[in-house]
Amino acid sequence: MLDEYEKILVTGGAGFIGSHLVDALLSLGKEVVVFDNLSAGAEGNLPSGIRLIKGDVRNPGQITEAAKDTDLIFHVAANANGTVSVNDPRLDFETNAWGTFNVLDAALQAGVKKFVYVSSASVYGRPQCFPIGEDHPTKPFIPYGSSKLAGEICCDSFLHTYELPVVIGRPFCVYGPRENPKLALVEVSRYLRWHLNQKPIRIVGDMDRKTRDFVHISDVIQGLLLIADRAHPGEVFNLGSGEEVTMRELTDVIGSITGQPVMVDVISDIMEDTYRLVSDISKIKSLGYAPRMSLANGVRYLTEELGEHPEIPTGATIFKKGQRGEM
Ligand SMILES: NC(=O)c1ccc[n+]([C@@H]2O[C@H](COP(=O)([O-])OP(=O)(O)OC[C@H]3O[C@@H](n4cnc5c(N)ncnc54)[C@H](O)[C@@H]3O)[C@@H](O)[C@H]2O)c1
Repeated sequence: MLDEYEKILVTGGAGFIGSHLVDALLSLGKEVVVFDNLSAGAEGNLPSGIRLIKGDVRNPGQITEAAKDTDLIFHVAANANGTVSVNDPRLDFETNAWGTFNVLDAALQAGVKKFVYVSSASVYGRPQCFPIGEDHPTKPFIPYGSSKLAGEICCDSFLHTYELPVVIGRPFCVYGPRENPKLALVEVSRYLRWHLNQKPIRIVGDMDRKTRDFVHISDVIQGLLLIADRAHPGEVFNLGSGEEVTMRELTDVIGSITGQPVMVDVISDIMEDTYRLVSDISKIKSLGYAPRMSLANGVRYLTEELGEHPEIPTGATIFKKGQRGEM
């Protein structure tokens, strides 16, 4: 796999998804360079001896220098937090939209053979059909979704204008070890962290009507490698489990895996994200993708990983200016 590529740059490689990707690339015997400003990621997520360039995608000179002589770039760096995007849309847009433009421009100058952009299911906005295919309209409703979509549009223009071989993955709700508890908003690890500390799980919205597509990090990495290896320039792929889970079902899984009764605290005055969300993964399956981690096993492994008193999530879920959030 990835036989054509030797030297690989991973922006955001010290973060949650990026660091697992780095591990996978190293195990394929690749030379990997990480570019990260460590605003959300940590050196501790990286194996010792790896080359880490501490730099910012908002700085064109830094990313251009880092991209030199690489033949594959995974652009993972971003503000990945919706609430941060609501509170500071400029930071979000500069990082995700302008930052992506800078990485594309650096890739062009380096003459890379492939550019993989890690986008997000947030580009779809509120789903209009179930499951969501890649041709679903893109109508984001918070700044984070629009900045990730702006990144996709830049990718498209670099392909059509300069023939930069760009491919795009749209992860759904990713969970697993190494999420930053201060920033991560995906329910699996948030819920588990409260629960393991014997605190009520704070559920934003309606626990029966709100559904999500939770995908384990190992499956997302499997998908990203397949996209890099086999996708054609311009192709876009959902990266999900294809399974729809209500928040009630998630709390039930957590209760049964941990063997501890679950307490819940429902925040019913925030309803913006009470909608169904599930991916159609038939397109990426045609590349050979097969999600392997069930939610029960993923929760089991994460429970072992987090231990008895994991750090409690502190970031609130906010969709509108002035909203109180759930904390
Ligand atoms: N976690 C999810 O559920 C999820 C879902 C869909 C899409 N994504 C996308 O996946 C990517 C990775 O997300 P993650 O969950 O690993 O988040 P993360 O915050 O753990 O990783 C992002 C990394 O980018 C780095 N970074 C941020 N701003 C930077 C900048 N200006 N310059 C250089 N580095 C910078 C951070 O330090 C961090 O290491 C993001 O592009 C995000 O939009 C994540």
